Amino acid sequence: MIQAFKKWLIGYKDEKQTDESRQRIEKLQKGRLPRHVAIIMDGNGRWAQKRGLPRVAGHRQGMITIRHITRAADDLGIEALTLYSFSTENWKRPEDEVNYLMSLPEEFLRTDLDELVERNIQVRMLGRGEDLPKHTLEAINKFREATKNNTGLILSFAMNYGARSEIVRASKQIIEDVESGKLDKDSLDESLFGKYLYTVDLPEPDLLIRTSGEVRISNFMLWQLAYSELWFTDVQWPDFTRERFYQAIEDFQYRSRRYGAV
Ligand code: FPP
Repeated sequence: MIQAFKKWLIGYKDEKQTDESRQRIEKLQKGRLPRHVAIIMDGNGRWAQKRGLPRVAGHRQGMITIRHITRAADDLGIEALTLYSFSTENWKRPEDEVNYLMSLPEEFLRTDLDELVERNIQVRMLGRGEDLPKHTLEAINKFREATKNNTGLILSFAMNYGARSEIVRASKQIIEDVESGKLDKDSLDESLFGKYLYTVDLPEPDLLIRTSGEVRISNFMLWQLAYSELWFTDVQWPDFTRERFYQAIEDFQYRSRRYGAV
């Protein structure tokens, strides 16, 4: 009752699962599921501009899409979902837009934490947390704290994330560990290098989705995407739906992954 009132107060809408999507989930679950899906959520600004709205309206709608796609991934039983939410290059945007983006984790905390906890989802952050505004980092830390013992879907927000900076950071830590005698240089291999990245114990993404028609990686998970299947759509992130997400998974199931073999 209190939960229902709280949801009403914040204008939160529950999505009813249709018979069609239940059947689709069952069909997909019979095939090979990606363990980890990463998404470049692009097109928020254009979505808003097309409607004569300020760009930030696109980001807000994009946050609602995050809710739907998280549910879709969780219902399907995917292990990890990673969302590119703010890149190290996004600080170049107008101050108002940056400020708005930095306020979204707090809003998402207010509107979605209860459901994430109910669904046993664990929230993480990848990126340079130390450069985020205090209020943004606090919201992220509250998410982490409240969900740290959850054992279901791992939902990671890449916030102030850049893959090159992640690789440089990892390299510096490795040098420090070698110099302090904690790490033997000869024991360094690809698998150990991966442990120095923000993704530490996450499986590498099997599937990368990018919305809005751009066909590039934009400094996202450069190390981890080495063998990922890439899937692009012209649909802008605020219009991306559970059905399209499942379409991407279905297409993934038809791909043949050879990892360099024949
Ligand atoms: C790219 O679209 C999108 C972003 C830079 C921000 C994505 C952020 C969200 C969807 C919300 C994040 C929410 C939480 C809770 C962290 P764009 O603005 O570059 O679109 P454009 O290419 O059309 O201009």
